[in-house]
Amino acid sequence: MRDSFELRDGDGAGRIGELSVPRAGVTVETPALLPVINPHIRTIEPAVLEAEFGADVLITNGYIFFKSEQFRERALDEGLHDLLEFSGAIMTDSGSFQLSEYGEISVTNEEILRFQHDIGSDIGTPIDIPTPPDVGREQAESDLETTQARLEAAQSVDVGEMLVNAPVQGSTYPDLRETAGAHAAGTDLDVFPVGAVVPLMNSYRYAEMVEVVLAAKRGLGVDAPVHLFGAGHPMMFALAVAAGCDLFDSAAYALYARDDRYLTVSGTEHLEDLDYLPCACPVCAEHTPESLRATDADRREELLARHNLHVSYRELRTVKQAIRKGNLLELVERRARGHPAMVDGYRALLDGVDELEAHDPVSKGTFFHLSAESAQRPEVRRHHDRLSRLTVEGDRVLLSEGDDNSRFDVTWRLQAPFGPYPPALSDSYPLTAEIPNRLDPAAYEAAAEGVRRLAAANPDTEFWVGHWGWPETALAALPESVGTVQLGDDSTIPAWMDGEAE
Ligand code: GUN
Ligand code: ZN
Repeated sequence: MRDSFELRDGDGAGRIGELSVPRAGVTVETPALLPVINPHIRTIEPAVLEAEFGADVLITNGYIFFKSEQFRERALDEGLHDLLEFSGAIMTDSGSFQLSEYGEISVTNEEILRFQHDIGSDIGTPIDIPTPPDVGREQAESDLETTQARLEAAQSVDVGEMLVNAPVQGSTYPDLRETAGAHAAGTDLDVFPVGAVVPLMNSYRYAEMVEVVLAAKRGLGVDAPVHLFGAGHPMMFALAVAAGCDLFDSAAYALYARDDRYLTVSGTEHLEDLDYLPCACPVCAEHTPESLRATDADRREELLARHNLHVSYRELRTVKQAIRKGNLLELVERRARGHPAMVDGYRALLDGVDELEAHDPVSKGTFFHLSAESAQRPEVRRHHDRLSRLTVEGDRVLLSEGDDNSRFDVTWRLQAPFGPYPPALSDSYPLTAEIPNRLDPAAYEAAAEGVRRLAAANPDTEFWVGHWGWPETALAALPESVGTVQLGDDSTIPAWMDGEAE
């Protein structure tokens, strides 16, 4: 167990945690957003971030200070906290991004780590190699070797109480990401950014982003605090948190503001396309799209950046509240409707999230069935796993969407998408679910899978399903050995059951 990170609450693979940052003397609650501050631009002053937005952590680039004639000496003399006028925790990056953009940088790994320490960074970063998506396997492997050597070297640099990031690379190769995660977790470094995902996010490849995160987390284990490097769009916070990310850094709030882009939780709007401002933050309460367009460029950039940050912090609070209430996946599902690529991201999450539930409470708020994807949720799969271990008392058993029937030894309830369950479980999570009357076929198919698992675990029992008109695809998924009757349709009811079915 790492002593700098403690988990407080969880929902699926999402969690609320506390990251102790000893050099700053603060504890940061996660999930946390680190606004990116460029010392040359300072779109929003760090003091304003702290006072107006409650920011307790930010990120800036140590390499920019290293190279800056204007700021290098000041940073060394005054320290970042005084220079930026920020009393919370400050994370610094190392120049890896510049390395990936320009091909080279003029500093060594040890040098930039020591420099980050000397300017008062609270969380520093070695020079990892951000390998882009889709490169050849050989490049991904050899870049990763370099990154791993840098992490190992970082362990022996004396940086006092400064925490050190251990970035996880490996391009779009899940097995390399997993190996990289395991290696990083094996060092004595402290925080674990998943790197080089910006190109995936910029091209809306959310499914691969999720796969990369889940793979890294398989290697890292649940105890590690995970940062999604370069992720700052609020539309994907819920998804990324549900995949197990704890920290985000946002340059997006400022970059997007610069060219009049307005962030929302379901995507990005262009100021010129807006007739109304669909937000209640202080900026949007005091302005209209017209008045913003009429504002001079510098002021408009600041106002849009403020709005973008308000939306981002608000979304993070929404995510945390969802974790507390146990309905994070419902939130992910709502956010997934903002863009088709987010639907893919959500489906990738459902495909891979099972193994990651560290602190998923057994009992939480009511399960809301909201879409065809809901049938793939971990709660449904877990119920199916349970069914495959349950022994049924009785030789002839009815699994019924309707009433009991005394011609059977036992009647169990039958509820899509879960499938069968004993009446005694009616009041327990997730079977207290709120489910729409007009269900999608996927929900019935999932219920049929539940029947199949129960029948397989009890090969000597005769099962009958009593349903209110399941779709053909669900009936076809039932084992041959299972009898079916359609409730309310006497022609489907065998004579021996007569008069009693329903
Ligand atoms: N910022 C965005 N992506 C990365 C990355 O992969 N490594 C580092 N050091 N910084 C980043
Ligand atoms: Zn707003």
